Amino acid sequence: MKTVIISNRLPVKIIEENDEYTFIPSEGGLATGLGDVYKSGNSVWIGWPGIEVPEERQEEVKQKLAELNLYPVFLTQNEINLYYEGFSNEVLWPVFHYVVTYAHYEQNYWDCYKSVNEKFAKSAIEILNKRDKIWIQDYQLLLLPGILREKLPASTIGFFQHIPFPSYEIFRLIPWREELLNGIMGADLVGFHTYDDVRHFISTVTRLLPVNSSSNILNSNERQIVVEAFPMGIDFKKFSGLTSTDEVKKEISYFKSGKEDIKIIISIDRLDYSKGILERLKALELLLQLHPEYIGKIELFMIVVPSRDTVQQYSDLRDQIDQFVGNLNARYRSMDWIPVNYFYRSFPIEVLSALYSSADICLVTPMRDGMNLVSKEYVASRNNNDGVLILSEMAGASKELTDALIVNPNNLGDIMEAIVLALKMPLAEQQHRMKAMRAIVEKFNVKHWVNNFILRLNEVKDSQKSLQTK
Ligand code: G6P
Repeated sequence: MKTVIISNRLPVKIIEENDEYTFIPSEGGLATGLGDVYKSGNSVWIGWPGIEVPEERQEEVKQKLAELNLYPVFLTQNEINLYYEGFSNEVLWPVFHYVVTYAHYEQNYWDCYKSVNEKFAKSAIEILNKRDKIWIQDYQLLLLPGILREKLPASTIGFFQHIPFPSYEIFRLIPWREELLNGIMGADLVGFHTYDDVRHFISTVTRLLPVNSSSNILNSNERQIVVEAFPMGIDFKKFSGLTSTDEVKKEISYFKSGKEDIKIIISIDRLDYSKGILERLKALELLLQLHPEYIGKIELFMIVVPSRDTVQQYSDLRDQIDQFVGNLNARYRSMDWIPVNYFYRSFPIEVLSALYSSADICLVTPMRDGMNLVSKEYVASRNNNDGVLILSEMAGASKELTDALIVNPNNLGDIMEAIVLALKMPLAEQQHRMKAMRAIVEKFNVKHWVNNFILRLNEVKDSQKSLQTK
């Protein structure tokens, strides 16, 4: 009996250079969070390898991935355009992050979303055994639980959504809202990062479908679906341990040399309008305007990892960031100091670890975020218990990391004041807060998250079976 994880993206993606395929780790919370865990258990993972692979090379890719227990679902360029960029990232992503004006409700996006979810079901059925557990991940596959339930009525299906679930008033805007909910309802257990997401989901389902709820249990067509919060964690030991490796130590000394008197602030995100990157820069600008005493004394290291840049809103955002950073640096820099060190690329984990260990402040201010694992990675890397985390109240992580300086990301003055507070915070207070947060991140790590979800899935299935035999 194995666990079959299904997500849009595999934890590795293909990069093509001179006709050569290389496999590198994928970006984003889902891949980085679950990536290591699946290797250690009896699991296989089904998903898209990140580019269009021509038919004649599909067998080669399949074989390479099979060595890693990964099974590819190949998407054509048209499917990438309509299902991935279109419905997933121009309808569901903006609506679920409350940016409803960015949504394009195109019928052909929807048609393709349906057919690609069917395609994933077909791939899954090829490798599924009767007693396997199926664990479907995220918003790109909302219809998959329903499709698999129809084809394999007795199967055990868990569904976890890594992004927020919006309130009913927002979700109801989607033209295909009932179909989407019916899809999710194919699962036995539905998980979200926070209790608020659970609440929104239950309220939406009971208003839009003929479904009753009793507490967190939904009753539909003689089936019971359990909805619960499972806040995702990270591999605490990995991040905590990395900081003492030779490679990371070398990066740290390289990075810190000449910056002994500078307070370092870091910001690490995928390129995304939900991350509040521009607002964060504006808050820094405000700080330099209102507190000129910090000019020459602080530096922001801002990493933006390229993502979805074939979607218009993402490439527009990239241009806006380029412009803003250029403008800010040009106005404030001196011959030997620059306020924003901006990188538009991904970095190996050793460099990220060096940044986490060197930073006096970590600025995480998304406008809305399912969880946000960067905030947890920073905390896990602070083995000396110092450093200050500034965290948006709109990130799922703010429900757990209550010892961060919590800010409203729309309030630039609030962010600016939090930075000033962090810069002035006595070491004892930093340590008090950091210790409390580290205890949480260490205990509720990613293994705990996986085990907890799978355990609940088994319990839910067992209680369903005993209901049916009564
Ligand atoms: C978020 C989503 C994931 C997604 C990741 C990267 O973390 O929850 O489902 O994989 O972003 O985005 P991408 O579009 O590159 O897969």
